[in-house]
Amino acid sequence: MGKYIVGITGASGSIYAIRLIEELVKLDNEVFLIITEQGKKVVSYELDKDTKSILSNMPKEKVIICDDNDFFSPVASGSYKVDGMVIIPCSMGSLAKISNGISDSLLTRCADVTIKENRKFVLVPRETPLSQIHLENMLRLSKIGVSIVPPMPEFYSKPSNIDDIVNSTVGRILDTLGINNHLYMKWGL
Ligand SMILES: Cc1cc2nc3c(=O)[nH]c(=O)nc-3n(C[C@H](O)[C@H](O)[C@H](O)COP(=O)(O)O)c2cc1C
Repeated sequence: MGKYIVGITGASGSIYAIRLIEELVKLDNEVFLIITEQGKKVVSYELDKDTKSILSNMPKEKVIICDDNDFFSPVASGSYKVDGMVIIPCSMGSLAKISNGISDSLLTRCADVTIKENRKFVLVPRETPLSQIHLENMLRLSKIGVSIVPPMPEFYSKPSNIDDIVNSTVGRILDTLGINNHLYMKWGL
């Protein structure tokens, strides 16, 4: 079906990223996965598993692991067509670089390319409280069409566990990409 770049940075919330990748793969999409150095450490810490063992459970034909230092990767160029990009979770550090056009890693280069090619781009920022700098960086990106989708659980769906909460955020992200899903309770349906 589609091709998506998924970036994982060192913000809290690795569980959202793993769930999103599982769902994209289940829906027959190809995923180009970029994890920052700090992202790898936070994934291992939060999920109590070595990042390599988490990645080894993903189907190799569907999840292409990209090195964050490899600017020779196909996804580093706008001439390589992908359907969109999601950075989940997105640290305030990576957000600041992206909103200022700094592309000093594969992740930030892909973000720059996604913006210049006017492709679907979803950022899932995670920090609290948010400073004026964070908010201004998000506003700047929102103004040029980047979707800012923070992981904010809703409680009217009466979630009974963490999976319910994670699924509702992942469902919203898929909705934003235009991918039909039944991961969460849609009000009125
Ligand atoms: C356990 C842990 C949780 C963190 N959570 C956040 C977070 O939610 N948001 C954030 O902006 N930074 C968070 N940080 C700090 C980032 O990891 C740090 O700013 C790092 O430079 C981000 O680099 P990256 O964007 O290249 O991954 C966290 C760090 C650790 C160790």
